[in-house]
Amino acid sequence: MEDLDALRTELMAAVAGAGDAQALEAVRVAALGRKGRVTALMKGLGTVEADQRKTIGAALNQLKDAIGAAIEARREDLADADLDARLADERVDVTLPARPRAAGSIHPISQTIDEVIAIFAEMGFSVAEGPDIEDDWHNFTALNIPPEHPARQEHDTFYLPGTKDGARMVLRTHTSPVQIRTMMETAPPLSIIVPGRTYRCDSDATHSPMFHQVEGLVVDESTHFGHLKGCLIDFCRAFFGIDDLPVRFRPSYFPFTEPSAEVDIGCTRADGTLRIGGDDWLEILGSGMVNPKVLENCGIDAERYQGFAFGMGVERLAMLKYGIPDLRTFFDSDLRWLRHYGFAALDLPTMTAGLDP
Ligand code: PHE
Repeated sequence: MEDLDALRTELMAAVAGAGDAQALEAVRVAALGRKGRVTALMKGLGTVEADQRKTIGAALNQLKDAIGAAIEARREDLADADLDARLADERVDVTLPARPRAAGSIHPISQTIDEVIAIFAEMGFSVAEGPDIEDDWHNFTALNIPPEHPARQEHDTFYLPGTKDGARMVLRTHTSPVQIRTMMETAPPLSIIVPGRTYRCDSDATHSPMFHQVEGLVVDESTHFGHLKGCLIDFCRAFFGIDDLPVRFRPSYFPFTEPSAEVDIGCTRADGTLRIGGDDWLEILGSGMVNPKVLENCGIDAERYQGFAFGMGVERLAMLKYGIPDLRTFFDSDLRWLRHYGFAALDLPTMTAGLDP
C-alpha cells in the first residue's frame, strides 16, 4: 500500500499548483476520478488484510474528503481571482468626461453677457430683448431725443433706406429703445436687463461699427437714487470679483435720465497696463433716474412711478476683466484668438459657482 501521507502531500501540492479551472479539473480526475489514484486505492481495499481494512479505509476516506475540500476551496479562489482580473481588465473610470472636450468655445462677448445676466438675475431682474432695426421714435424721440437734438449727432447713426409706416428706420444706436418697448407693453413694477447688439458708424482701435450693450431698467413707486447706487455698486463688485472695489458716481447728462451719473471704478495704471482696483478712476457705465418725460411717453404716470436705468458696453467690460487689449480682435474670427480667449462650453456662469472660469 502506498504511503498515504506522501500521496496527500503530493496531491495537495498539485491542487495548490493548479493555475486555472482546467488544470484543477485534471488534478481532480487524476486523484478522485473513476481511474484516479485515490479511487484505485479504495478499489484495492478488498485485497487488504481484514484487520487493517478498517483503519486504511478510514484513512483513505479522510484523504478523499481532504483532497475534495482542497479542490473546492481552490476552485473558489480561482473563480475569485478570475473575477478580480476581469474587473481590473474591464475597469471604467466613471469620472472621465463622457465625450472629448468640444472643439468649440464660448466667445468672450457671450461669456461676459452671461455673467452680467447671472448677477442681475440673482437680484431679481428678468431678460428682455428688442429688434436690432428700430424706428426713429423708439431709438430717439421717445427717449427724449427730439429730431433737432444734438445728441443725435453723437450717435453716428446708420439710417436704413426708405421708411416703414412713415417712420425712418435705423440700426439701433443703443439698447435703450428696449426700455421704451418694455414700458409700453408691461405695467410697472418692472426690472429688466437687456443684452444686445448696437450699431454706430464709427471704427477705430476702440470703436467697432457693431458692438454690444447691456441695458437695465427698474420702475416702481418708491424707486430712488439710493437703489440705483446700491444696485450698480453690487454689480461692479460681483462682476470684477473684488469685494471692496471703489465705485464712484460722477454727474453726467443723458436726455432720457435726470439726474444722470456716469459710474467709475477704481483702477491702477502703471507701465502702460491697466488693472482693476486702485485709486485711479475708469468709466464703465452710464446711468440715471428715468426722465419723467420718458415715463409719460410710454403712458406711465410719472407722479406715481419713478425708475432708474443704466447702460454698459460689453466689449469694454470683457476687455477689462479678461485683459483683452484690442477691441477689433473680437470680430476677426481668428481661431487662435478664440481658442486663447474662449470659454468652456459647459461652464455656465452663476453666482454660486463663481463667475470666473
Ligand atoms: N444709452 C446710453 C448710451 O448708449 C447709456 C445709458 C443707458 C445711460 C441708460 C443712462 C441710462 O450711451
